Amino acid sequence: MKIIGSYPKTRLRRLRKYKWLRDIISESNISSNDLIMPIFIRDGKNKIEPIKSMPGVFRYSIDKLPIILNQVKKYKIPMVALFPYIQDNKKDNNGSEALNKNNIICKSLKFIKKKYKNIGTMCDVALDPYTSHGHDGIVINNEVDNDETVKILIKQALLQAEMGCDVIAPSDMMDGRVGLIRKELDKNNFSNVSILSYAVKYASNFYGPFRDAVGSKSKLKKDKKTYQMDFRNSFEAYREVGLDIKEGADMIIVKPGMIYLDIIRNIKKNFNIPIIAYQVSGEYSLIKDGIKKKLFNEDIIFESLISFKRAGACAIISYFAIEVAKKLKKIN
Ligand code: PBG
Repeated sequence: MKIIGSYPKTRLRRLRKYKWLRDIISESNISSNDLIMPIFIRDGKNKIEPIKSMPGVFRYSIDKLPIILNQVKKYKIPMVALFPYIQDNKKDNNGSEALNKNNIICKSLKFIKKKYKNIGTMCDVALDPYTSHGHDGIVINNEVDNDETVKILIKQALLQAEMGCDVIAPSDMMDGRVGLIRKELDKNNFSNVSILSYAVKYASNFYGPFRDAVGSKSKLKKDKKTYQMDFRNSFEAYREVGLDIKEGADMIIVKPGMIYLDIIRNIKKNFNIPIIAYQVSGEYSLIKDGIKKKLFNEDIIFESLISFKRAGACAIISYFAIEVAKKLKKIN
């Protein structure tokens, strides 16, 4: 890019003088339309359980979901992402509970679709909250077996669609699953159900608090490096995105968020597909902790979310979604 102008004729500070002027020339902005709220759901009744590793985030039993869904509705957040927390005695090697028509995700989907028709629902396709070993797929001969796992994931996705899920989000990182899920959905008359693929998901250390929230942390043996992406790589992300688009993904996720903005930018430049950033649990907890310790003020939340928009994301999955939407309503 050519640099145009020179001092003293050109003074960039001129356009920073007033707030209204800064607002006029701002290149990116955020509204509640850009936010997706993750919700953790557990069994039982009358439960709102704090999650230690994520201060301010709770697990809700279904009867208590209105507490959070009413806010989602009030502050005009378009979609929620549902994550289950299930008891240890329901977990096994195959994550069978994922295919139970009466599991908490199925029940929650029915509840939300009945009582909150205008809130979009997104569900993870992956087995980790349901497996006794905490992996996203099934373990055969000490390995997470790709093709056998995909057979189960297809069924999990179809079940979610049958229960009213609007956006199916495979987060498992198995090869070929997007195409096979698309085929299964279409075969069963769910051609209107979208696929939001976690196309670029790194084997990240930032997922720690989430694994605690869904109860897979203490279970997880080894790491997820044989299926999630190596964080030293960037160009590999193009191959993931390209394949997923070919297989029928409607939108893609880049995850984690803030330290992967280069990836969002590169994908934005090279592919014409909506990109959703996931500001993951570790990012949330770090920011939250810094605010609590008064290392920075709450504006850091806006700054972090805007960075995703600036990089090229169209929306952000964030545990701050309600908090931010609330503030935006006050400002506007
Ligand atoms: C499950 C899944 C994970 C996250 C979303 N879906 C964890 C993992 O892959 O281990 C992480 C979300 C977060 O950290 O907020 N496949």
